[in-house]
Amino acid sequence: MATSAQKCVEETGDACPLSHVAIIMDGNGRWATRHGKARSAGHRKGADAVREAIEGAVDCGINYLTLYAFSSENWNRPADEVSDLMALLKLYLQREIKSLHKQGIRLRVIGRRDRLSADIVSMIDKAEQKTAGNSRMTLVIALSYGSRDELVTAVQSIAEAVASGKMRPEDICEADISQALWTADIPDPDLIIRTSGEQRLSNFLLWQAAYTEFSFPDLLWPDFTKADFRAAVDDFLGRHRRFGARP
Ligand code: FPP
Repeated sequence: MATSAQKCVEETGDACPLSHVAIIMDGNGRWATRHGKARSAGHRKGADAVREAIEGAVDCGINYLTLYAFSSENWNRPADEVSDLMALLKLYLQREIKSLHKQGIRLRVIGRRDRLSADIVSMIDKAEQKTAGNSRMTLVIALSYGSRDELVTAVQSIAEAVASGKMRPEDICEADISQALWTADIPDPDLIIRTSGEQRLSNFLLWQAAYTEFSFPDLLWPDFTKADFRAAVDDFLGRHRRFGARP
């Protein structure tokens, strides 16, 4: 059966307008409370929903799927929750890389690595190297990621290029800024999904989301399934994007 994205290419004859979907996975804590469980159980169930989202993205023929797994601000959560989340991410990397590789999925991790433990950084490096040649889909995990932090880092690198005479201030263009971000070479997201009913970006892909469409399914992240992914994609494909131009 044709995927939504393939169907779109067939129907319009154009390249599919949906290449990159990003997700703010929100509501693990509320899911746990509703089920009378500890927050860590919500995060564990959230990791199952990650599998669903990846399957949904592969089925829909998406090229890039970005998941906001841990923000710069999440470091301010209680120490036991931070360590639960880090342990879960470690387990995920240990258990899932083989399967991602088998499915032809490339892994990229964006965010500030200097706050992550050495063993997680080493697992990320190995996973990125192992999957670097895969082209079916790129899974981007935003980990210890904050968009303002990313922009500050980009401005610093551009300022260094100017100070050393490699670049003139008047020549700096939008593409230079995009290329200085951690998401260099990743297209801007076409669609951002945020679960749980909250409707904000929370320091996620601020530069990259200039013309992104949004979807706010009314469910908590641990309940998210590949059918929800497909529903968001189908809704997106029915929209008309004008990028600021006249209709
Ligand atoms: C937001 O829910 C979710 C997070 C801060 C963590 C997201 C992590 C996962 C889904 C699990 C592991 C991820 C991967 C990639 C394996 P919240 O805790 O803020 O929920 P609340 O707003 O209801 O309290």
